Amino acid sequence: MDEAVASAVASIRKVHGSAFPETVLILGSGLGRFGEHVKAETILPYDTIEGFPVSTVAGHQGRLLIGEAGGAPLACMQGRLHVYEGHPIQEIAVPIRTFRALGVKRLIVTNAAGSLRKNMGPGSLMVIEDHINLSGCNPLIGPNDDETGPRFPDMSTVYDVELRTRLRAAGEAEDVKLDAGVYLYTTGPSFETPAEIRMFAKLGADAVGMSTVPEAIVAVHCGMRVVGLSLITNHAAGIAVHPITHTETLEEGEKAYEKMSRLMLRFLTTLA
Ligand code: HPA
Repeated sequence: MDEAVASAVASIRKVHGSAFPETVLILGSGLGRFGEHVKAETILPYDTIEGFPVSTVAGHQGRLLIGEAGGAPLACMQGRLHVYEGHPIQEIAVPIRTFRALGVKRLIVTNAAGSLRKNMGPGSLMVIEDHINLSGCNPLIGPNDDETGPRFPDMSTVYDVELRTRLRAAGEAEDVKLDAGVYLYTTGPSFETPAEIRMFAKLGADAVGMSTVPEAIVAVHCGMRVVGLSLITNHAAGIAVHPITHTETLEEGEKAYEKMSRLMLRFLTTLA
């Protein structure tokens, strides 16, 4: 096992004596408040977990909650790491592999994203059906640990079909409309130009963002099931009629908080 992962596992086990949940939820920009719904038995700021890289973005709290939500045991990352913060993409693997080593089987990833579809505006929720990694980098670059996963992992179904179906069913049960589409990943931190957005649309993208894909690749590599949800916070550059700001991302997160929470709690209930 990687040294950082081994240290993180030991560090978490030292503080959290009980069984680690089999499900992890990563909260994206503006969605951190969902942590209020987690009845946390243990709260670990990332800088207290040895080996864990620390995130620095505004709107990201940077702590791990371990407890229960919607009746299901759940660990929740309030705040994630991004390549644009300067973390080498391989570092993004550390939390995911730590969770795997602790017995986690499912990863729920959420993010804020810009929409490339006119009919999918701010406030929409999009189930991620597939992704395009346009970042030019991959978190699995480097020596491969065959015990963790294969050198050339298959990415035919990154986003688990059964979990997507369950998420859509939760949406129906809560009367929360869900779109579905392809998420395109760029490193950021600059938002895209209108020309880039026109190109991404031609490539088959429905939404664009700066996270999620590295974690999803690492999770699939080590055998986890992944489900992803994007909160559309804006129309992407050139489709939007005004400049794109991070403030808008946070504001839309706040506005969507109630419906996103209901959806997520219902979904978690089905995992209980
Ligand atoms: N582009 C990239 N990332 C984003 C956007 C966007 O328009 N909105 C929220 N995250």
